[in-house]
Amino acid sequence: MIYFLIGFMGSGKSTVGRLLAAKLDMPFSDTDVLIEQETKLSVNSIFAQYGEEHFRRLEAELVRDIKKDAGIVSCGGGLPCYNNLMDELLKKGTVIYLRASEGTLFERLKNATAERPLLEIATLQETIRKRLAGRSECYEKAQIIIDTDDLSAEEVLKEICKRIQA
Ligand code: S3P
Repeated sequence: MIYFLIGFMGSGKSTVGRLLAAKLDMPFSDTDVLIEQETKLSVNSIFAQYGEEHFRRLEAELVRDIKKDAGIVSCGGGLPCYNNLMDELLKKGTVIYLRASEGTLFERLKNATAERPLLEIATLQETIRKRLAGRSECYEKAQIIIDTDDLSAEEVLKEICKRIQA
């Protein structure tokens, strides 16, 4: 069984993913970390040296090769929305969208732009608005959607467990 956690940068996928993996006693992985291990480059360096399209190809290869017993997989924020990967995720497992509003994402991301190639503090609000608008339709194909704005990570975990009946 695979549970894919998807959502915009800053939606809490990695934090909640780790909690869910511990709760279900399943392995946990993060697609950005897997790509960094495979290429021996940081996500920032991949974007800087080879561009976003190349990174999206690496994400597609990773999803194609994912093992059935992967457990909980936290997906990079853009992953489902390129190269039809959302359809692949839906075929391979259960997709859980951690939905957050623009305001919540701004608050969570304003101090974390340096480690993310697509974000700059001066244009953060605009970037969130535009990219989220472009991605929402894709994200909302998920089998499970959790509204996370007013929830702690533990509360999101509880809500997921309720929905997957764990
Ligand atoms: C991206 C999100 C990042 C990472 C890359 C691109 C995006 O992952 O894959 O910087 O396009 O939203 P996180 O959502 O884990 O920050």
